[in-house]
Amino acid sequence: MSSPLQHLIDRNREWATQVERDHPGFFGTLAAQQTPKYLWIGCSDSRVPANQVVGLAPGEVFVHRNIANQVVHSDLNALSVIQFAVDVLKVEHIMVVGHYGCGGVLAVLREKRVGLADNWLRHVYDVKMRHHGRLTHLCQHAQEDTLCEMNVIEQVGNVAQTNIVKDAWARGQPLSVHGWCYGLKDGLVKDLGVTMARQDEVVSVYREAIKRYPRLANPGVPGGADAIDPLDDEA
Ligand code: CO
Repeated sequence: MSSPLQHLIDRNREWATQVERDHPGFFGTLAAQQTPKYLWIGCSDSRVPANQVVGLAPGEVFVHRNIANQVVHSDLNALSVIQFAVDVLKVEHIMVVGHYGCGGVLAVLREKRVGLADNWLRHVYDVKMRHHGRLTHLCQHAQEDTLCEMNVIEQVGNVAQTNIVKDAWARGQPLSVHGWCYGLKDGLVKDLGVTMARQDEVVSVYREAIKRYPRLANPGVPGGADAIDPLDDEA
């Protein structure tokens, strides 16, 4: 009896043959070692494939993906990936890549129950609450795009605050953390301008990035200035 996945096995054979034909010795070289310069931390969403989006071949990008591209401080999986990428592979860039229309972010905004994943998405909910005053005055569509971007900015901050990245910077290892948001509708990546390359710029870069999303002009309006978080910019 043939496998219901036989068509994928067949395609794999064709792909491997094609790659080896175009680049003789490709797999042999790659099997010996990988030397990626990039670590991609993205959403599990099937529409955001890391390698294809940035036109990189196998061996060129180390990848971690989970629902809503989160970096949670107690997540041993994400931390292990970051540690291996930074300490062993010596990647030079870590990009946190969110995407507009992210189902995880939308579920948080619409307070939609998903199941077990609600607990994982609680971290995105925390981002929403932290920046409540910068979201509530927006229309629904703008809230969705904005929270997708804010979630990326928060995760860039989380990456930068790991002891892994702090230690790499302390020993002078070249390493930058970037925040991007990918458009499902046009296939384009937007750089959110939250690149951090040194310990002493983490807070200022974070604050500058968040400040681009204005609060309500009138602090007396519900959801305005009363939602200020100490980590958010008060100045
Ligand atoms: Co997503």
